[in-house]
Amino acid sequence: MNSVKVGLLGLGTVGGGTVKVLSRNAHEIMRRAGRGIEVAHASARDLSKPRICDTTGITLTQNPFEVVNNPELQVIVELIGGTDQARELVLRAIANGKHVVTANKALIARHGNEIFAAARDKGVMVAFEAAVAGGIPVIKAIREGLAGNRIEWLAGIINGTGNFILTEMRDKGRDFADVLAEAQRLGYAEADPTFDVEGIDAAHKLTILASIAFGIPLQFDKAYTEGISRITRQDVGYAEELGYRIKHLGIARRTEEGIELRVHPTLIPHRRLIANVDGVMNAVLVKGDAVGPTLFYGAGAGAEPTASAVVADLVDVVRTLTSDPENRVPHLAFQPDALSDLPILPMEKVETAYYLRMQAQDRPGVLADVTRILADQNISIEAMLQKAPANGDGSVPVVILTHRIREQQMNEAIRRIEALGTMAGPVMRMRVEHLKG
Ligand code: NDP
Ligand code: HSE
Repeated sequence: MNSVKVGLLGLGTVGGGTVKVLSRNAHEIMRRAGRGIEVAHASARDLSKPRICDTTGITLTQNPFEVVNNPELQVIVELIGGTDQARELVLRAIANGKHVVTANKALIARHGNEIFAAARDKGVMVAFEAAVAGGIPVIKAIREGLAGNRIEWLAGIINGTGNFILTEMRDKGRDFADVLAEAQRLGYAEADPTFDVEGIDAAHKLTILASIAFGIPLQFDKAYTEGISRITRQDVGYAEELGYRIKHLGIARRTEEGIELRVHPTLIPHRRLIANVDGVMNAVLVKGDAVGPTLFYGAGAGAEPTASAVVADLVDVVRTLTSDPENRVPHLAFQPDALSDLPILPMEKVETAYYLRMQAQDRPGVLADVTRILADQNISIEAMLQKAPANGDGSVPVVILTHRIREQQMNEAIRRIEALGTMAGPVMRMRVEHLKG
């Protein structure tokens, strides 16, 4: 049987990795897919740039629309990134009756509802395994492997760059900016690295995970997002003293009132497996009612790990090219007419435990004021640390761990503590999750 001809948009980190893996493992891939997979046409901005892959035999162009309009291609792989042009290209490919594979989480999280509707109309597939957690096949696991479960919650380290930065800061005392520059050199970071650092990339991925876990439409605009740039080495040290690790987590939880959808730095007990996921590695913990907790672990970014997921999608597409579109696995795991309208909860309604760090004046009554405010808001303290003042400094760092409480009450408590007049600077707040199975 003839090879399936594929068009590739983008020959950067992931595009280059995809060409390499397709070529190196061509025989194994053919044995699995039943047909060869051949990249016939590819586009990049600068055709004179050196590439990590061999492009011999591939027709190259600077115009990605030439690729999506090429009638000889059956599948388009979008690895350019961004949302405007990528959306236009993907919709054009679909309109031309081509199947699409993409690693672009921003595109799926923001425009997935529109893209999947267009794909359904044309009876083509849009596969996006590489969009979440790099090489970990977590989309397939939730969508297919856990299809018998009612998913209760999931929590994941889903940005490799952020986890790499936190790990290097903790283990080697390296500077934030230094480690970020290294992540960029290694090809882990997004074109705009603030997406990694400020949690936007993780929120894109969490939006996708929540949709396939709970059967809800993609609602990126309702995700709560907080980045890692405010975490200090002090916080990392205090968390360790208290028996916790700080990880940048994406959390989606089904509650009676709606769905929690939030990305923020989180203290996790250090004995949890996920607390020990370091460097560029990602992990997603998924709790199903039947299976219990499951943990998916692997490289979250980088050329070949991501290519592994892109190529798996290509094999899936090739295997089902001739199948009836109605009998394919639905894009968002649930049948499109069975999506639920469960609301996404505003952050004020989320209930969690907290880590608070404040710089308080070292004199009688200050701590009593703080604990009174917490008690007024019905916030119960689990642990407290007070450190010795630095030489010549009249203030001391105070760290408090609380039991679970609604964010709204914690917001009010923090507002009142900051207004006391005995605090130097704002209160640093992080959420604490025990992630018990
Ligand atoms: P790169 O920047 O390394 O590659 C982007 C490629 O797209 C380059 O080849 C670039 O051309 C080409 N390109 C960009 N703009 C245009 C344009 N307007 N017209 C034609 N070609 C264009 O990005 P990555 O490979 O890192 O990322 C690609 C996608 O994969 C993104 O959506 C990203 O979020 C996602 N992703 C990335 C991961 C990673 O580890 N890097 C992991 C998982 C997902 P040129 O090379 O000439 O500049
Ligand atoms: N920039 C992303 C990360 C790439 O660091 O996780 C993988 O999606």
